[in-house]
Amino acid sequence: MEEVLLLDNVHKTINGREIIKGISFSIKAGEVLGFLGPNGSGKSTTLRMIVGLSKPTEGQIKICGNSIVKNYVKAMSNVGCIIEGPDLYNYMTGWDNLEMLAVMNKNISKQDIISAATIVGMEKHLKEKVGTYSLGMKQRMGVAQAIMNKPRLLILDEPTNGLDPSGINEFRNLINRFAKEENMAVLISSHLMSEIELICDNVSIIKNGAILKNAVVKELLNSQEVFWILDDNKKAMDILNESWGINSKIDGDKLVASMDKSIISEINASFIREGLKLKFVDNRHKTLEDLFLNITEN
Ligand SMILES: Nc1ncnc2c1ncn2[C@@H]1O[C@H](COP(=O)(O)OP(=O)(O)O)[C@@H](O)[C@H]1O
Ligand SMILES: [Mg+2]
Repeated sequence: MEEVLLLDNVHKTINGREIIKGISFSIKAGEVLGFLGPNGSGKSTTLRMIVGLSKPTEGQIKICGNSIVKNYVKAMSNVGCIIEGPDLYNYMTGWDNLEMLAVMNKNISKQDIISAATIVGMEKHLKEKVGTYSLGMKQRMGVAQAIMNKPRLLILDEPTNGLDPSGINEFRNLINRFAKEENMAVLISSHLMSEIELICDNVSIIKNGAILKNAVVKELLNSQEVFWILDDNKKAMDILNESWGINSKIDGDKLVASMDKSIISEINASFIREGLKLKFVDNRHKTLEDLFLNITEN
């Protein structure tokens, strides 16, 4: 699969303060990446650099192989985005808002406007003024604007902000369709793990301008907290580390590790082979939210 977006060691310093401290990640066609981090962690600053609204101080950004610094126009021809809220005029109708944007981009036809509005389910509301739309409808119009030029890369900054659960659900289906049917690469930022864990294939977790973790959502969701009580927890800890490459810690009378639960029984068998007595074993599912809090709070 082809890399649609690549960030390589991107830094940004504003007024002598380093806000982005060497960020790297990539997204392939058909993949949805969640860019997750608390407020003020540097998400919008990063997205603004990706779409050329500000320049990286150091590092490279490539879209479909084109550097956004050396080959800006070609790189941007592949991008649709909403950064810091949809850009809509309340006193104009939905249609006029879309058309105004289309006029600025020669490659967008009337038919493209109609199909973008239809994809987001707004085709029946285009004659109404945007000022009468609900927040969810405005959000969908923003997405329509972003997809009118059939981008290979769709960038959405906190798109679920202010949506109610049914709006979020609808939004999820929309994004999944773009990625899986249109083979778009999608980058979605959010400060709420719970809102994006069902949309994203991968997550990059950012805090204070640095990536704390790049992870595959399915693997994170399979990860469990496992507890053992053995006659020699310290020896078991060494076995986990040396034979399985798993870090664990001793918590009271228990040995605790975060790991994929599918190998628990094999690990138990190896403890017994090493002569340990297994008194108790249990596991607890961790939600992505737990993991996110765990990662960002440490
Ligand atoms: N133009 C700017 N000048 C100075 N500081 C800025 C500027 N833009 C963002 N920052 C600072 O950079 C940090 C990251 O902000 P931002 O990227 O907006 O975070 P997020 O989108 O994750 O909430 C914040 O501390 C913010 O105050
Ligand atoms: Mg932001």
